[in-house]
Amino acid sequence: MMFKMTGIVKRFGGLTALDTVDFAVEHGEVMALVGDNGAGKSTLIKTMSGAHAPDEGTIEMMGKTVQFRSPQEAWESGIATIYQELALAGKMTVVDNIFLGREIKKPFLGIPFLDRQSMRAKTGKLLKELDVHVPSIDSWVESMSGGQRQGIAIARALNMDANLIIMDEPTAALAVAEVRKVLSFIKALREQGKSVVLISHNIQDVFEVSDRISVMRHGRCITVRETAKTDPQEIIGLITGAHEVRAAAS
Ligand SMILES: Nc1ncnc2c1ncn2[C@@H]1O[C@H](COP(=O)(O)OP(=O)(O)O)[C@@H](O)[C@H]1O
Ligand SMILES: [Mg+2]
Repeated sequence: MMFKMTGIVKRFGGLTALDTVDFAVEHGEVMALVGDNGAGKSTLIKTMSGAHAPDEGTIEMMGKTVQFRSPQEAWESGIATIYQELALAGKMTVVDNIFLGREIKKPFLGIPFLDRQSMRAKTGKLLKELDVHVPSIDSWVESMSGGQRQGIAIARALNMDANLIIMDEPTAALAVAEVRKVLSFIKALREQGKSVVLISHNIQDVFEVSDRISVMRHGRCITVRETAKTDPQEIIGLITGAHEVRAAAS
């Protein structure tokens, strides 16, 4: 297993936001994470990405126990999280965003200079692999569409050598054509053997790209289904609790 969480508990004062959650992702798998508002999805990914420390439970990455004290430590272990707000710098170019904090330098007369040529070449290669089209890698990110920005954020994660890419509602607020692009980026990641955790309210998107679906309700991960062996109606029933009620009644 590439990533595994066992018995994760996270409390906020008297509220138990995560109640002994087990969650695992395999290599090259797209795992969808679904659940109603307040189910605990964002809290779970914040625990994966080092933004929250769990009160109980263990996290393993490639078979080794890890404890992240910051998002930086999670990044260093190969977990990249792309939040809705993205955290790209609008008034910087595509190249500069992808290499933010990771600039390639080469020495000249003993002084390190930015190796812009290598950075530009690597940027072009990353965007090509994901099939991200931008007008120019020298354009400011703020001039780009939501789909292009998602592509740039994913390219940045790949440049940081991420193996697990967590995306929180990447298709929310995107036009249809842009949604198609983002779904194709997710498929491209899987083809590269990367693992993806996808939080989405859009059940159609979930069924199009995921291999498995984890359903959360009231801070618990209530079930994991193989996407090919379930259907949207069943998943919606599990999200809302309709299935549980029916099972209890029968
Ligand atoms: N920082 C926080 N402080 C207090 N309560 C929080 C905090 N973050 C989330 N919660 C609570 O934890 C529960 C789960 O929230 P969240 O993980 O955001 O759910 P989801 O992303 O599935 O909508 C909710 O009841 C929410 O109000
Ligand atoms: Mg959320």
